[in-house]
Amino acid sequence: MPQKFVLLRHREVENIADIDVYIENGGYEALKQVLKMERSEVIDVMKASGLRGRGGAGFPTGLKWSFIPKNAEDVYIVINTDESETGTFKDHELLEYNPHQVIEGALIAAYAVGSKAVYNYWRGEYMDISYPCLWAVHQAYEKGILGENILGSDFSCDFYNHFGAGAYICGEETALLNSLMGELGQPWSKPPFPAVEGLYAKPTVVNNTETLANIPPIITKGADWYRSMGTERSPGTKIVCLSGHVNRPGNYEVEMGKVNYHDLIFGDDFGQGIPNGKKFKALLPSGGSGPLMNEEHLQVPLTYEGPETVGSVMGSASLIVMDETVDMVWAMGKATHFFKHESCGKCTPCREGTYWLDNLYERFLAGEGTAADIATMNDVAENMGGRTLCALGEFAKNPALSSIALYREDYEKHVRVSDGLPLPVAGD
Ligand SMILES: Cc1cc2nc3c(=O)[nH]c(=O)nc-3n(C[C@H](O)[C@H](O)[C@H](O)COP(=O)(O)O)c2cc1C
Ligand code: SF4
Repeated sequence: MPQKFVLLRHREVENIADIDVYIENGGYEALKQVLKMERSEVIDVMKASGLRGRGGAGFPTGLKWSFIPKNAEDVYIVINTDESETGTFKDHELLEYNPHQVIEGALIAAYAVGSKAVYNYWRGEYMDISYPCLWAVHQAYEKGILGENILGSDFSCDFYNHFGAGAYICGEETALLNSLMGELGQPWSKPPFPAVEGLYAKPTVVNNTETLANIPPIITKGADWYRSMGTERSPGTKIVCLSGHVNRPGNYEVEMGKVNYHDLIFGDDFGQGIPNGKKFKALLPSGGSGPLMNEEHLQVPLTYEGPETVGSVMGSASLIVMDETVDMVWAMGKATHFFKHESCGKCTPCREGTYWLDNLYERFLAGEGTAADIATMNDVAENMGGRTLCALGEFAKNPALSSIALYREDYEKHVRVSDGLPLPVAGD
């Protein structure tokens, strides 16, 4: 099963980041089309397409747009280009090589909800790769595609690029909005939801970069075309970021439901297996934040619903592959340390839970972990679940919980080291 380039079209069309090449290849036709449509009709097409948000949670995009109150005076569109999840590098490729597709998608969203301003929130570290997008925005203004009376219509919209300072939590939509307003990048307790009170307390749509890149082809080719790809609950294509112990890491665009995780890691069209003849051990299917998957889980299809059947998530589809040499205590200790560092500290279960989990991992790695510590880690992690203000606290429990469930023997090896016992041999 080869890749299907809907979003990664720049790999087939050279220099599509340039506005003339983009237009020669059908670019901004979707925008022209929606300018002749009622706003509600555009939202209906998005609803019919079944597109779900690619930021991780998979919320239906058309439904999200429909929550914006009609005739609200100021409405904002915010593009989430924070791309802070570990192992995620897809939005980066889209904006570097085909920025107009994202700009066009955001403009269509703005038209549909009655917004006159789009903010693109980038993670600070992406400044170096942002120039093609900054240039694309400039070109779009020059061609009358951004600014006043776009393409001679009564629709006007501005586009602003904004760079954060590189905090994982600023990918969470309300922390992002706080950061954009110059406030401390901490989430707020919902409600109010951004659709009601978001940026500057005005109705706001926050969409992921990849989500918005889907919009122009959905408009030009139609909701039925979009639904002809993927599954009922997961229509369309998805960009998969493959990294770690694979021969061919990179971004791959696939029709959801047509490939499974095993294909993605081992398939000739994708990862081509584990380097140096090593065996597969574990997969983080959604960066550091989703529960681990083991070899038995790899047959599930890449869809929103597939990994759920084995207790995991598709999330942002950032696959981090680990071979047999990886000690899960070391690896999940790293993931936990990341969450401790990135926790904004606003709520107790996340602030304290990540701190104590990190301490326990340090104890194991210093050769001092005990069997009782494994139970304590499990307990601490379980008590974070469902008790935190935002999903970072949910994510932070997963490395410990899923690795203890699937790779307990790695923890037990560390306990043997602490107890001065020899490491187990096969069959021990
Ligand atoms: C800790 C945390 C980090 C997040 N990071 C990102 C991110 O980097 N990019 C992103 O699009 N969504 C991220 N999200 C999800 C956003 O809160 C939000 O759901 C998303 O931007 C909505 O867009 P979508 O509906 O198009 O997926 C994050 C959520 C959490 C809790
Ligand atoms: S869950 Fe963590 S990151 Fe989210 S608000 Fe609470 S302390 Fe901050």
